[in-house]
Amino acid sequence: MDGSSSPPLNYTSPRIQREVFRSHLLLSDQEILDLGIRPCDVELYRRRHYQASFSINTWYDALREHTFRTETVDLSFEEAQSIVTVFLSKRQAGVDLSKERDILQKLAVRLDWIIKNDFNRRCFIKLNTRSPKDAPIYDFNSQTVKKAIISEISRLEPQERDDNNETIAFVKATNRCLVTSSGIEAVQVLTRSMRIYEDLIKCIQFGEKHFEAKLVIREWLEEVINKPEMEFRCFVCKNQMNAITQYFSMCHFPDLAPRKEEIQKKILHFFDTQLKNKLTHNNYVVDLFIGRDRILIIELNPFHNGAGAGLFSWATDRDTLMNGPLEFKILLQPAHNVREHVPDQWQRLISSEFHNSEDEDDEDPDIDEPVAYWPWTLAAVMVVGSVITGRLTSRFEI
Ligand SMILES: Nc1ncnc2c1ncn2[C@@H]1O[C@H](COP(=O)(O)OP(=O)(O)O)[C@@H](O)[C@H]1O
Ligand SMILES: [Mg+2]
Repeated sequence: MDGSSSPPLNYTSPRIQREVFRSHLLLSDQEILDLGIRPCDVELYRRRHYQASFSINTWYDALREHTFRTETVDLSFEEAQSIVTVFLSKRQAGVDLSKERDILQKLAVRLDWIIKNDFNRRCFIKLNTRSPKDAPIYDFNSQTVKKAIISEISRLEPQERDDNNETIAFVKATNRCLVTSSGIEAVQVLTRSMRIYEDLIKCIQFGEKHFEAKLVIREWLEEVINKPEMEFRCFVCKNQMNAITQYFSMCHFPDLAPRKEEIQKKILHFFDTQLKNKLTHNNYVVDLFIGRDRILIIELNPFHNGAGAGLFSWATDRDTLMNGPLEFKILLQPAHNVREHVPDQWQRLISSEFHNSEDEDDEDPDIDEPVAYWPWTLAAVMVVGSVITGRLTSRFEI
């Protein structure tokens, strides 16, 4: 069935009401209390533990040949606190960040060594939970993001410039800005991301004794950025694949419909011959990239409504997601509201650059709120060539 289909109105399934999702990865109250967690934090801890059970380190060894080359770095409690403080300071004037600067400078040195030696200065950085992919989208002051958006849209022929294609170009441009070439850039993107802030808060709240967070550094693959239509989210429950959706569910990719059957076969073959046997998880949401001659696992997410359902809905398709039979949804025509996925500030930029719209603001995009970013570019210039024997000889300057 396709994205346009919907269940009959009189359809009811007794399982929708009755079936409760179970997983051995969901700790019982007692198991959590035995760890010394306060009773009021039991539910939050259960969620954090469940999410952490899907992080890359839990499946990387078994499936390393099918994913990006990856290194994992432990994040200390004080490093996490510093990232959180710096993130918040961008919304608040006059915060003294000297302590955080020192801590994050050392983190940048550690990361820089790995990014240089293991990844030849091109990598993707994330937490073991989520990535900072929101950072470029909301970094309205960034000339790099602005140039990337203009450059990506410029590649479209004038007759191709519609809301759908421009939104796809926007997605590619902002994702491309996630390529990281130094420890400083890594710390910079982490401290600008609301998603990183939210995830770290969830780890910090249980105190240092129970703190655990990891940074994940992955080989950068441009192929993934260039072909967003080839990313798919697959829902596996009780070790059975029940649903597949295009990952960027707001965009219409005309090339997908004729290839739907072929893609479904590839995904199912990969699932049957690789994932199913090599993963110890039984329930998960897996994002796959279908490359020309291989399939890559982008990430595993908990089987939980915290993982976006794409063209499905956790509320109305729960039975399909949990029990099948397999449905594969793609968007068959452009969505009228596709442009809603581009923030207003960037829409204004696109209009002024490409549509000569007279009633649009011709100025550069403004910032909504006072955001005093660290002048990282200046810091980067100061640091060039200064990584000597593992130490940065220059300080970050604010
Ligand atoms: N190593 C990589 N190289 C290039 N692009 C990547 C890489 N890893 C992820 N991406 C892109 O970034 C997006 C977000 O990465 P992902 O690991 O799924 O983080 P999140 O948990 O925040 O969704 C992916 O959907 C993919 O498009
Ligand atoms: Mg993802």
